[in-house]
Amino acid sequence: AQVVNADFVKSSVRPDDCPRDGLPEFALVGRSNVGKSSLLNSLVRRKRLALTSKKPGKTQCINHFKVNDSWYLVDLPGYGYASAPQEARTNWDEFTRNYFLSRENLVSVFLLIDASIPAKKIDLDYASWLGQNKVPMTLVFTKCDKRRKKKNGGRRPEENVETFQSLIREYFEAAPPWIMTSSVINQGRDEILLHMSQLRNY
Ligand code: GTP
Ligand code: MG
Repeated sequence: AQVVNADFVKSSVRPDDCPRDGLPEFALVGRSNVGKSSLLNSLVRRKRLALTSKKPGKTQCINHFKVNDSWYLVDLPGYGYASAPQEARTNWDEFTRNYFLSRENLVSVFLLIDASIPAKKIDLDYASWLGQNKVPMTLVFTKCDKRRKKKNGGRRPEENVETFQSLIREYFEAAPPWIMTSSVINQGRDEILLHMSQLRNY
């Protein structure tokens, strides 16, 4: 399940503009700044293929990256707070949700949750929306390398993950698959790539 090559293909702001070759794809979604673009870079072992930033709101389009000439990783704008006008964020939210509802070759959405802070309602709501719309989902907990901080509730990543899992049980009959990651130390990289290859059936 290794990545041999990865190339940027295109940026779209409407599902209709996305590549039409029908190759299987996996999309990364989550709050702005959760680490979507960083995870994509970690998966393909490139430092700056997808652009990252300390400031939330960096990724603003549906960005397609082709892997091994045979499937796509899709980087998406985040939801929630971002340093961009409200109007722009509403627009991202709309085209992202439309993309989830209309994209036929979307194999699974990877919903990223920051494991360094306590569970947030906006993430539970997003998970629940995906579930209600029958969008296949995998949970990815990010920033598992971060040590607990008092201002973040003083909990370890493992504790935050456990709380999130127990809260999400209300919304799902069967708990979605989940993976702990860190893009800084590349934790979870092989596990995600293996999971993706199993979902693609090759
Ligand atoms: P938007 O495009 O703005 O929605 O953000 P994003 O989800 O793509 O986040 P991005 O990858 O740009 O990362 C945001 C910040 O979090 C950057 O400063 C990253 O260096 C940092 N970051 C991302 N992943 C990790 C991680 O696993 N561990 C730590 N400690 N920091 C991370
Ligand atoms: Mg990004």
